[in-house]
Amino acid sequence: MDHTLREIYSAERIDREVQRLAREISADYQGREVVVLVILKGAFIFAADLLRKLTVPVTVDFLEISSYCGTDTTGKVKMVKDTVLSLQGKDVLIVEDIVDQGLCLSLLLEDLGQRNPASLKICTLIDNRKRRTRPVEPDYAGIRDVCGFLVGYGLDMDQRYRELPALYEVVPSSAET
Ligand code: IMP
Ligand code: MG
Repeated sequence: MDHTLREIYSAERIDREVQRLAREISADYQGREVVVLVILKGAFIFAADLLRKLTVPVTVDFLEISSYCGTDTTGKVKMVKDTVLSLQGKDVLIVEDIVDQGLCLSLLLEDLGQRNPASLKICTLIDNRKRRTRPVEPDYAGIRDVCGFLVGYGLDMDQRYRELPALYEVVPSSAET
C-alpha cells in the first residue's frame, strides 16, 4: 500500500509521558522488586526507556505472542517465546506497546494469572480504550485514544518503521489531502 507517515507524537512528547509513567510506577512499587515482562516485539523500545527511568529494582523478562492471537480459533495465546523467570509470588508488570481491542492481553492475562504472581499489572504506551472489545484495563497508560494505524517507537507495519524515534500515523496515499 502506498502511504506516507504523519507525525502525531514527537520524541519529546513521548519522553514526557514515559517520565510520568516511571514516576507513578516507582512510587507505587516502592520497597518492592518488580518483574518487568516486556511483550515483544512492539514494546522493546518503550520498555528500554521506561526501565532506565524507574527508581525501584527490577528483573526483566521477555514474552512474544503471535500477531494472530486474537483470531486463533483455539482462543489461546500463541506463545512464540515464553518467559524464562518464574512469576510465582512475584510482582509482575506487563509492558505493552498498545492495547487496542484487548484481545491479546485478555488471553495473556488468563495465562499469566495461572502462574500465581503476587500481583499482575499492565503498563501500556498507548491505550485505545474506545476500541476495546474485551474488559482489559491498563493500570498505567501513556497516551490515550489515538486514531489511525500507528508506527514508530517500536510499533511496526509489516515489521517496518520500529526504529523511528516518534509516533506516526500511516496515511494511505489516496487519503492524503
Ligand atoms: P489488541 O489485541 O487489539 O489489543 O491488539 C494489540 C496488539 O496489536 C498490539 O500489541 C500491537 O502489537 C498490535 N497493534 C494494534 N494496533 C496497532 C497499531 O496501530 N500499530 C501497530 N501495531 C498495532
Ligand atoms: Mg504488541
